[in-house]
Amino acid sequence: MRVAVIGVGLTKFGEHWDKSFTDLFVEAGVRAIEDAGIDGKDIEAMFIGNMSGGRFIDQEHISCLIADRAGLSPIPSTRVEAACASGGLALRQGVMSILSGFHDVVVVGGVEKMTDIATERTTQILATASDQEWEAFLGVTFPSLYAMIARRHMHEFGTTREQLALVSVKNHRNAMKNPYAQFHREITVEDVLNSPLVADPLRLLDCSPISDGAACLILASEDKAKEFTDSPVWIIGSGQASSTIALHDRKNIVVQEATIHASREAYKRAKKEPKDIEVAEVHDAFTIGEILAIEALGFFKIGEGGRATEEGLTEIGGKVAVNPSGGLKAKGHPVGATGVAQAVEIVLQLRGEAHGRNTNADVGLTHNVGGSGGTSVVHIFEKG
Ligand code: COA
Repeated sequence: MRVAVIGVGLTKFGEHWDKSFTDLFVEAGVRAIEDAGIDGKDIEAMFIGNMSGGRFIDQEHISCLIADRAGLSPIPSTRVEAACASGGLALRQGVMSILSGFHDVVVVGGVEKMTDIATERTTQILATASDQEWEAFLGVTFPSLYAMIARRHMHEFGTTREQLALVSVKNHRNAMKNPYAQFHREITVEDVLNSPLVADPLRLLDCSPISDGAACLILASEDKAKEFTDSPVWIIGSGQASSTIALHDRKNIVVQEATIHASREAYKRAKKEPKDIEVAEVHDAFTIGEILAIEALGFFKIGEGGRATEEGLTEIGGKVAVNPSGGLKAKGHPVGATGVAQAVEIVLQLRGEAHGRNTNADVGLTHNVGGSGGTSVVHIFEKG
């Protein structure tokens, strides 16, 4: 399979008191259209990742609202929701619409505005992506779900508190070179270990922040892409899988089964193996999330992600550069935009345009998770 990415655009992630939800989307969209060098009339459809416009900003029916504000009506516009994997899933819908022959040029976007309400309310809204009956209703939040996974990983594999902290230290360092990142602040292991406790053993600096932001991609079919560029970045693999939402129903909470299945599908379609991946943007909503990801994606054996991180194997220049953008941890995590923003970073990496944080990679991967692992979406990219 081959689908071309011919344009990318992003807003800075962080708190945008002065910009609306639609302002953010249009800013990222215009950048992607300009980057692709296309005209609005070339676009045939839109797929928009958004987790919870209805709860964060009291706005539903965002698909046609965004098409209208972007000046793209009457093209068909579809909202895609899968909690924090909404963006990755929107990308998959865009890829499938091109591969099916239905469309030749589509916009895939993601947008979320999370900072207009208090943290307590945001935490409740995010928790709607857990199992209401068995988790959220009993007071469980996402930090606490990932905290339970972290404790179990430490117990089973000897993963240390310091190894978790090193994920955050690396991602904050990478974000220093990313002008779109929410945090430009280098931190140490001691900073992480001394930051306020959120859900034992996870501390403030183990958590991704609450963010506003948008991201956009322009996808084209192989034939159509030739009209706009000689060297697109190709999406060569796509995979998606589901698992139980509730942690207690999983066979093993320290193994992200949905990611194993999604990545198997993506590797098979791309005719690649884990060892071929040189750069990856993975779902580090919490530091333990990156360790689960690099294990389930097959970069390291199950249980060895903490040690691999400590040995520097996931740094830029290591065995596989993980989260060169700063990841969700330091770049920010506007939930509906995240999966699309991950793809923007991989495209910049493969084009050699990730200034200051280039990995010189030819093959890259994105990994976007909904909730604590109920949905997983993986895409594989190759330099044109
Ligand atoms: N990492 C680093 N710094 C952070 C941060 C984070 N995740 N979250 C907040 N900060 C900083 C702020 O910039 C601020 O710094 P300042 O005092 O220098 O301005 C300070 O910490 C306090 O910020 P505040 O906004 O009051 O934090 P908060 O207590 O409201 O929120 C969390 C902190 C951890 C509760 C919140 O970021 C959170 O819930 N994160 C997880 C989001 C999530 O679950 N996403 C979905 C995943 S599936």
